[in-house]
Amino acid sequence: MKKQPRPGKDKPSAQEPDNPFDAPRGAAGARAAVIVPVLSGRYRGAGATEASLRRSPQARLEEAIGLAAAIDLDIVSSGIVTVSNPRPGTLFGSGKVEELGAIVKAEEAELVVVDHPLTPIQQRNLEKALQCKVLDRTGLILEIFGARASTAEGTLQVELAHLKWQKSRLVRSWTHLERQRGGLGFIGGPGETQIEADRRLIQERIMRLERDLEQVTRTRDLHRQKRKKVPQPVVALVGYTNAGKSTLFNRLTQSDVFAKDLLFATLDPTLRRVTLPHGSDIILSDTVGFISDLPTHLIAAFRATLEEVTEANLILHVRDISHEDTDAQAADVAATLDILGLDEDRDARLVEVWNKVDLLPEEQRQTLVGANRAGTGPVAVSAVSGEGVDDLLTRIEDRLSEGSHVYRVSVPLEDGERLAWLYRHTDVLKRQDGEAGIRVQVRVGERRKDEFSDRYRGAFVEVDGDTDDTIS
Ligand code: GTP
Repeated sequence: MKKQPRPGKDKPSAQEPDNPFDAPRGAAGARAAVIVPVLSGRYRGAGATEASLRRSPQARLEEAIGLAAAIDLDIVSSGIVTVSNPRPGTLFGSGKVEELGAIVKAEEAELVVVDHPLTPIQQRNLEKALQCKVLDRTGLILEIFGARASTAEGTLQVELAHLKWQKSRLVRSWTHLERQRGGLGFIGGPGETQIEADRRLIQERIMRLERDLEQVTRTRDLHRQKRKKVPQPVVALVGYTNAGKSTLFNRLTQSDVFAKDLLFATLDPTLRRVTLPHGSDIILSDTVGFISDLPTHLIAAFRATLEEVTEANLILHVRDISHEDTDAQAADVAATLDILGLDEDRDARLVEVWNKVDLLPEEQRQTLVGANRAGTGPVAVSAVSGEGVDDLLTRIEDRLSEGSHVYRVSVPLEDGERLAWLYRHTDVLKRQDGEAGIRVQVRVGERRKDEFSDRYRGAFVEVDGDTDDTIS
């Protein structure tokens, strides 16, 4: 285990958080040890997911430290522990548990993060043996989301996910006890009654939360319906946590959404309007970051929020292309998109954005950015330096206009309604007001083509592209 400097003891104390998001409830500042168990031999892969097997133990350790830092834990010790014979009661062998206990004591750790699923029994036994709180990966991610939730909806979603998780764990530990007693024909007992009572309480709370959430979701749906009436297409950013979505969002919208070197800095979707090179507008949506092994309860809880993604006209998959695990991260994002039901027409709506090219070797950076103009394949950008961002805007425009056509339409001056329809349902590229009427050049998307032809029959001509400057 690597000893980490002890803020306040080995070096000047850590900086005060300058943002309320930096100071989540409870855990902030707690001294923590982070352990990545690597199961070896015939147990390799036991309890581990495909996602964690895709990564090197060192990369898993770095990510686990990043996750722990995301709720401001003070990491006093971290390390990779090989487990050749996982124990049902404690995961680690007794010698290792003792060793960990000594580290916890010496470092005065209040919390041990184990980057592996722990059964409730393992968690309880480890807590007893180590004399401190123990969190597994799911528990840690739930903590982070709890700390980040800033809207009523986010808070409800996380609390609901937390309770459902707790409930499933109670069920599991109960089944375990039942099995132990089964042979004796023993029914009831104090432990069981307590668990049943806990389950009932949790169930009641879950039902209350679900009702509250339904209300909030209904309001969001109304907003979304309203937005649907607005002609602007929605473009959603997705990506592995820390890929740079918020930074890119800020650059594209020239706004100042919270972007920090923190995992899951964004939890609730943020929407802004962005104008594309030829003047049409889109709504850009920044969403929650994905991560490997995102607890399924969380995906379910955030389904409503993530619908922003599934319903978007175009999805930008932002990747940190400088990260050594970029391919594994991309695979995890794809898996999460699949869970969200986006597997079918994913490619048709997806653009890969290879971010952080400024961190690549010069030659590689130039090659990637040089390929942007090809019009297909990934768009290489740096959200920090701004390189490639114009190419990205052009690509968004191109992809959104695929299947669309440009027309010149004449509208009589007195027919405000006809003009309003064009503004609502098409991209108005040019407009010329004359005495005889108004002439506009519009781009009509595939979806609206038939309706447009019916409404404006005889009043429009198709233009080959939208390059001519005057409307004749
Ligand atoms: P989550 O909220 O966790 O999902 O993260 P995110 O994807 O929104 O990432 P965010 O924009 O918060 O950026 C994470 C870190 O990467 C920050 O420290 C950014 O400054 C940094 N970053 C983002 N884009 C770039 C880039 O193009 N180049 C470099 N060098 N750093 C970048």
